[in-house]
Amino acid sequence: MKKVIIERSYSLYDTLDELSKTDQQLLQLAKKSLNHSYSPYSNFKVGAGLLLENGEMVGGSNQENASYPLCLCAERVAIAAADSQYNGVPIVAIAVTAKSANVPIKEPISPCGACRQVLCETEQKHKHEMRVILQGETGQIMVFETAKDLLPFLFDGSFL
Ligand code: THU
Repeated sequence: MKKVIIERSYSLYDTLDELSKTDQQLLQLAKKSLNHSYSPYSNFKVGAGLLLENGEMVGGSNQENASYPLCLCAERVAIAAADSQYNGVPIVAIAVTAKSANVPIKEPISPCGACRQVLCETEQKHKHEMRVILQGETGQIMVFETAKDLLPFLFDGSFL
């Protein structure tokens, strides 16, 4: 038996002005997208902003349903919108943020497991890694160079 250690890294920024202008714009789009969230059941708004290789930016927000399992996460809404509108254009970065009616969100919010799986599939589909930028309403900003760093041991088409 041997123990295997997995290492991953991310960058941690204290303030927005340490980010590139593009990453700042992407987080702004994610924050603007919070206004389009439909989340009457959780009162938890999530916004996403995508940057495409052609320079376009696409926003998305969570869309809930009284039948809870039908709720759509912001990340997947944004990715489906981008891939529907700009077929085949790689997505090079995604910013995600959230706002709750109940508590201030001072730490980066983490994409759920299902969204991580979809982010990784999207990287494989476009043969392009996606930078993942995470921030709460305020506070530090985490930047991962690829979605794969958020999901070790992902299930992908190579198993099929
Ligand atoms: N949510 C997202 O939009 N993205 C995530 O990665 C985590 C959760 C949404 C789903 C639901 O509308 C609300 O947040 C509370 O779970």
